[in-house]
Amino acid sequence: MTFLYKADAVRGAHWARLFAEKAPHIPFRIWPDGSSGDDAHAVRYLAVWEPPRDLATAFPNLELVFSVGAGIDQFDLSAIPAHVPVVRMIEPGIVAGMVEYTTLATLALHRDWLTYAAQQREGRWQPVRTRVAGERRVGVLGLGVLGEAVLTRLASFGFPCAGWSRSPRTLDGIECFAGTDTLPQFLARTDILICLLPLTAATRHILNRDLFAQLPRNAALINTGRGGHLQQDHLLEALESGQLSAAVLDVADPEPLTADHPLWHHPRVMLTPHIASVTQPDSAVEVVLDNLRRHREGEPLIGQVDRARGY
Ligand code: GLV
Repeated sequence: MTFLYKADAVRGAHWARLFAEKAPHIPFRIWPDGSSGDDAHAVRYLAVWEPPRDLATAFPNLELVFSVGAGIDQFDLSAIPAHVPVVRMIEPGIVAGMVEYTTLATLALHRDWLTYAAQQREGRWQPVRTRVAGERRVGVLGLGVLGEAVLTRLASFGFPCAGWSRSPRTLDGIECFAGTDTLPQFLARTDILICLLPLTAATRHILNRDLFAQLPRNAALINTGRGGHLQQDHLLEALESGQLSAAVLDVADPEPLTADHPLWHHPRVMLTPHIASVTQPDSAVEVVLDNLRRHREGEPLIGQVDRARGY
């Protein structure tokens, strides 16, 4: 009943130490070790960032597939046998990282950090009018575990907070919008928009010209979803026209952007290399081991992907 890990090897070594300590009865291998011949037949559990193409034939006894990240858009779900559950990474470390990053980005936009960074480069000392948090409306697209944690934290600063999701949610102190019909209403009340959606066929390029036009003028964007959510040329256009005032992007398409891409040097864009939140082995292995127990005992898995929805 081997557990095979196929992702960043340095973090894999950390997982291996944790497995040796907490679940010494489960043989733990790091790809490509354990991925061929009889070894591959012994693999029951696979934790991956990018699944191998021939997964179904290479690992005929596979029982569970874990994504080492929160997203599974890099998976071809049709290549994973229907009886094998796929589990996304929902663990406290990833949540904490996302809350930190989006809080940092929201406060930076709220307190005009990009403006002052540019002014410093120009040797200019020029205060701009400060707005109070109560005047800055924050909206999060996507109300999963991450969206909820982010909104709860941001609400504590006094930002009027709202969230939008496909299916109805209720969150204390947060205005919740559900379904495509309510999207215009949600956008119209949002000064800082944070994208935390899963990337699916329905959400690809959702951050486009039409959506930006429905935000108040001078709104700002934080994309911590996937590069594929954003129509990058539409963002440049919206920044040019003043419809959007700024953007903080942790993801891009492609990653990295081509060397000559205008987003690299745009004065109203802050770009980071997909580091907003990273799976933390200590807390992630706890969740994985709990899911192995749940699987054994026939309990619902934490983070199991609904194949029909695609997340
Ligand atoms: C990172 O982007 C993840 O999916 O965890």
